[in-house]
Amino acid sequence: PPLQPFAIRFGDDNATLEPQGQILQRRMSDLEGLFADRRAWEQAVADGDPVVYTVVSSPVPEVSRELPQSITTIFPGDTGGEFWMTKGHQHPDPQGEIYLGLEGRGGLLLFDGERAEWLDITPGVIGYIPPGWAHRSVNVGDEPYRFLAVYPGSAGHDYGWVLTHGMGLRARRAEGTVELVPFGTPAG
Ligand code: PA5
Ligand code: NI
Repeated sequence: PPLQPFAIRFGDDNATLEPQGQILQRRMSDLEGLFADRRAWEQAVADGDPVVYTVVSSPVPEVSRELPQSITTIFPGDTGGEFWMTKGHQHPDPQGEIYLGLEGRGGLLLFDGERAEWLDITPGVIGYIPPGWAHRSVNVGDEPYRFLAVYPGSAGHDYGWVLTHGMGLRARRAEGTVELVPFGTPAG
């Protein structure tokens, strides 16, 4: 049965949701095959395997008709010059999703298999992800980058798609700014 109505509040620093569901931590070792520079990735795993991002969800379940939300925090950094980022995924059941920037400076990279798009996401900006576009978030600043995601509970997450198709572009650190470069051959 559907849930009853309830309020969900942002916690301290917009880092958490109250009430809160599950918390996911992605370390560097969870991001195998995603950074262009595999050597730099291996070195980062050996050098303490840092947490690259966390995802805090509200208690709304990922089931049909419900509308779950989560806050992602990507920590600042780069690996071989490539800004820290999420794994990225495609929704197996193509449905739209919105991201709302909360803290820091980020980018939303979108790829439909042919075209790639980049949206700058800062606090107060909503990035719209149309159905059928794979999406990856990138922290292009020096502070943690946080955003709220809201998505249909039945959309699902396909991470293999990105390993096969890539994301069209990569975001690299360049003289205090962001350089978007061609993806190159999919890693892995
Ligand atoms: O629903 C979303 O798209 C986000 O909440 C992401 O799942 C989150 O940002 C983590 O990224 P990924 O699922 O690609 O690891
Ligand atoms: Ni998504």
